[in-house]
Amino acid sequence: MNSAPSVFFYDRATDVVDHTSEVLEGFRRKAKFISPKFFYDERGSQLFTEITHQPEYYLTRTETALLQEHAGEISDLIGEDILLIEFGSGSSTKIRILLENLRPSIYAPLDISRDYLAQAAQALGSEYPWLEVHATCVDFTGDFELPFRSEQRHVSFFPGSSIGNFERTEAEVFLKRVRQLVGEGGGLLLGVDLKKDETVLNAAYNDRAGITRDFNLNVLSHLNREYGTDFNEAAFDHLARYNPDEGCIEMFLVSRVEQTVTLANESFRLEEGEVIHTENSHKYAVDEVRQMALNAGFGSIRIWSDQDELFAVFYLS
Ligand code: AVI
Repeated sequence: MNSAPSVFFYDRATDVVDHTSEVLEGFRRKAKFISPKFFYDERGSQLFTEITHQPEYYLTRTETALLQEHAGEISDLIGEDILLIEFGSGSSTKIRILLENLRPSIYAPLDISRDYLAQAAQALGSEYPWLEVHATCVDFTGDFELPFRSEQRHVSFFPGSSIGNFERTEAEVFLKRVRQLVGEGGGLLLGVDLKKDETVLNAAYNDRAGITRDFNLNVLSHLNREYGTDFNEAAFDHLARYNPDEGCIEMFLVSRVEQTVTLANESFRLEEGEVIHTENSHKYAVDEVRQMALNAGFGSIRIWSDQDELFAVFYLS
C-alpha cells in the first residue's frame, strides 16, 4: 500500500505466528506468563507514551537528553546516505531528534502496533517531505526480513532500553541478528538502562499516578478483545519489583481472588494471590553490554552516558 508519495506500509504481523497458541502456552505453565509484546495494542501504546512522561520514569528523558546533546557527534560517526531501521518505533518521537542531523535516505520503522505505526509513519512523512518512509508492522522479536531492498548502508536504532525486555541470552541473539541485518559497514545505535540504586528502579515501575499499573492491567483487556479471554481487570493488582539476582525489574499481575479464566475452550484456575508474569526489564552494567556486543560480532563501541550514569547510548559498528 502506498498511502502518500514517500510513505510505504507493509503488514507482516499476520504471517506465520499463531498468537492464541502462544497465549495458551503461557497460561499452561506452572508460573503463568503473558508475553510483554501483548502490552502494545493501541491503548497500551498510548499508556506507554504516558509512562515515559512520568517523573519517576527517568529512562526516556535521560536518553532524550543524551541524543540531543550528542546528535552531531552521533551523526558524524554514523555517516551519510543510510537506510535507518528503527526497532519498536512507536510514535517515532526519538528519531526526530536525529533526523535533521543524520538526514538518512530512508527511514524504516518496525513495530507490532499496526494502527499506531501507520499514524506515526504518515505524520513523519508529512513533517519531513524529503524523507522516504518504509514502515513495517512486524514482530521483530522473531526472525524476519525487511520487505523491501535498499542499496544504502544499513544502520539500526533500538532506543528506550527495549533490549532490556529480552532475556539476557535472547538479547545477545537479537544483537547477532542485527549484526547480520546491517552487514559490513553497518551499525546499531542502542539505548540501555544501567544498573543503579534499587529504590530508583522500583519507583520507575511504580509511578504514583498509576500509569504503569494501568499499562500492566491493559494487557488483560487486549487479550479479552483480540483472543476472547474473559479476564476481569478489577480482579488483579499490579506488582513490579527489582530482582537483584537477575538484575531486572519483574512485573506481574496478582490475582486478588480465586478465579477461573477461559481461552479457546480451556479453563485456567488462578488462586488468590497467584501471579501472572508479564515482563522483565533487564538492567545492564556498561561492561555487560560491551561483552554482549563483542560476542555478537560488533568490533567498535562508542558510549555516551549522563553524569549520574542512569542510562547509556551505545554505537556498535
Ligand atoms: C519498553 N520498555 C523498555 C519498557 C521498560 O521500561 O522495560 C516497558 C515498561 N514496562 C513498564 N514500564 C515501562
